[in-house]
Parts: sequence; C-alpha cells; structure tokens
Amino acid sequence: MPDFIVTPWEVSGEIDYDQLIKEFGIESIDEKILFYIKEITNEIHPFLRRKIFFAHRDFNWVLDEYKKGNPFYLYTGRGPSGSVHLGHLLPWIFTKWLQDKFDVELWFQLTDDEKFLFNQSYTLEETYKYGFDNALDIIALGFDPKKTYIFSDFDMAGTLYRNALKISKKITFSTIRATFGFNNSSNIGQIFYTSIQTVPAILKSVIEEKNIPCLIPHAVDQDAHFRLSRDVLPKLGYYKPASIQCVFLPSLQQSGKMSASVETTAIFTKDKPDAVKKKINNAFTGGQKNAKLQREKGGDPAICPVYKYHFMLFTLDDDEIRSIQSKCMNGELLCGDCKKDLIEKVNKFLSEHQKQREKAKDKLEDFLLKEKIDLKSLIKEKNSK
Ligand code: TYM
Repeated sequence: MPDFIVTPWEVSGEIDYDQLIKEFGIESIDEKILFYIKEITNEIHPFLRRKIFFAHRDFNWVLDEYKKGNPFYLYTGRGPSGSVHLGHLLPWIFTKWLQDKFDVELWFQLTDDEKFLFNQSYTLEETYKYGFDNALDIIALGFDPKKTYIFSDFDMAGTLYRNALKISKKITFSTIRATFGFNNSSNIGQIFYTSIQTVPAILKSVIEEKNIPCLIPHAVDQDAHFRLSRDVLPKLGYYKPASIQCVFLPSLQQSGKMSASVETTAIFTKDKPDAVKKKINNAFTGGQKNAKLQREKGGDPAICPVYKYHFMLFTLDDDEIRSIQSKCMNGELLCGDCKKDLIEKVNKFLSEHQKQREKAKDKLEDFLLKEKIDLKSLIKEKNSK
C-alpha cells in the first residue's frame, strides 16, 4: 500500500510532493521560472516564492506565447458539494493574482454534474444550488466581472456535451480505468465525466475559432484530468492546456488535506469567529506536551498545521514567518499564543470575505453564463405562434 493517495476523488496520508512530481511527470517550479515570471509581472507572489505553487506543465510555454503577444486565458473550477473552505480559496487567490497581473480572462467551471455522479447522496438540484452558493465565494475574491465567466455544467450542457463527445471518442475505457482506477461498479457517468472537465480548456478556442493557450491553476489532485486532456486535445487540433499546481492546505488534524467532508479538518468561509476559535484551538500542533517541555525543547513547525496556515495563507510577510518559525523551534513561542495569533488573522480575513460574499449576491448575474435550455418555455413559445 502507498503511504499516501492523491486522485481527484481521494487525498489522504502524508503526501510526498517530490514523489508526485516524478509519478505524475509534472515539472517543479524552479528559479528559472520564478525569474521569468518576475521579468513579466515585476513581482513574485508569495505562493510562488514559498513553493506553495510548486509544479507546472508548460507554464514556460504559456509565458513565451504571452511575450510574443499571444495571451492565454485562465481556466479553473469547483465541484460544488457543500460550502467552500480555505483550502479551495488557495488556488483561487492565486488565479486572481494571475488575472490581475496578466490582464486575462478567467473561465470558471462549476461541476454540479461531477458532484452528482460521484456522491451517491446528492440530488441534481442540490449540487446545482451549491454551485451558486459557491460562486459567491469566487466573486468575493474580486475577479474582474468583465473578464470572468462562471458557469454551471448543467447550464452550459449544450456546448459542453457537443465538445465532450469529440473528446470522449478519443479516450478508451482502458485509459480511463488506468488513470482514475475505476472498476466494474463505477457508474457510466463517472467514466464519461473527465471529457466534460476537459472542454473549458478549449472553450475560448472553440468560440473564437482559433487556437488560444489555456493555463489551469489547481491543486495537484486535479492533474489526472488534465494529463488526459493533454493527450487528447492535440488529436483534435488544439493546444495542450498548461497548468500550474499547488500543494494542499492541510487538515487541522494530524494528516491529510483540509476536506469539506470531515468538518473538524476544515475552516469554512461561512464559519463564525467562535467556530474558528474552537477549531483552531482543537487543532493538532507540532508542539510539545506542555509549556515547560515546549520551552525546553521547542516545537516542530514542519509537522504543524497551525504553522502551515500561517505559512500558506495568513502570515505572508517573510520576516514575520521566519520569526514565528524560529521562536517555535527555540521554545520561545508557545502553541497557545501561536494559535491565538492565527485565530485573529483568520477571523479578520473571514470577516472581510463574508462582507464581500454578501455584496456578491448582487453581482452574481454579472459573472454567470447560461445557455437557454428551458424546454417548458420553449414549447410554450412555439405553441403560441
Ligand atoms: P474541488 O471542488 O474539489 O476543489 C476546487 C479547487 O480547490 C483545490 N483544492 C485544494 N487546494 C488546496 N488545499 C486543499 N485542501 C484543497 N482542496 C481542494 C482543487 O484542486 C481545485 O483546484 N473537479 C474539480 C472542479 C474543476 C476544476 C476544474 C478544478 C472543474 N474544472 C479546473 C480545477 C481546475 C473539483 O471537484 O474541485
């Protein structure tokens, strides 16, 4: 048995990201790429500097094309199966930075179909509804309404299906089984699904009837889908999509990623200050059993989710994070104080996010794309002629 699992549907164990780079055949974000990004954007986002975005496929090609005057568009997504948590925000915050820096479009897919197919307990109506709830979190991050298209798969079914058919015809069942590990009890919607997640990687090219580079920011769990996309799309005359991939914001407990399905591992964007306080106070840490031992021996930030939340999202100032790290290791900083600091930062962030989320309710229509597929009114219209 491997020590960890990373698939689009399961992430567990202590993840060895270097091993994933080898296994998936992705490339690490190295100094050369960082230098290249800085040359274009005049800045290196802390997520890049800190290797939170740690790997990519063809990101350098996308930058080459951009410099030649052939800009890319961004594509990312969300499987709406409940409330959004801080882990989901990680790739989206970075996507927003990319949109700002490169002044490019973002196509955002809400895969209500995926969540329906992969979770026995959800109805179509539920996943569709979650999509619009989750869209508020996306909009709250400040994406440009003139350059951002958010769509539910149900609402774009016509275009998606037409293109997914072409894609699915080029993928065999044995490839799907080898890539995703499906078995005889997998439903047939699951087997087809990846072709739907591939379509937005060519949507802009389809619409504009010319090849346009696409860059997909996501956490590394989604790589399997786009590995397949990259095999298939050139066979249909399209570019391979490029990607830039992040590590997971960890669970608040001892191992694994922050996961919506395990409440105590996650902080949700709708959490109230008291809930945040309780969850962080109950979190696993890399500290010693008691304050006396901590002062003597120091803690271990490398295994501590509390430290990782500071590092990955809430303490982006380099001097400050270095100070937290060294004071933890030399026993000056106690876990209680480190948690208190994190609670304050998370609640400050969430209070602003929740305000923006409320405002997003009035902006939803500026972002949503919908094909008109209301059969009932179409029939009514036809019969009234
Ligand atoms: P979903 O809804 O599982 O996750 C949405 C995005 O968040 C990333 N993610 C995380 N990132 C950091 N830390 C975590 N703990 C964490 N958990 C999830 C995911 O990698 C993803 O980027 N099938 C997709 C929806 C989708 C999509 C896409 C995602 C459709 N098209 C294109 C990325 C790019 C899904 O269910 O994501």
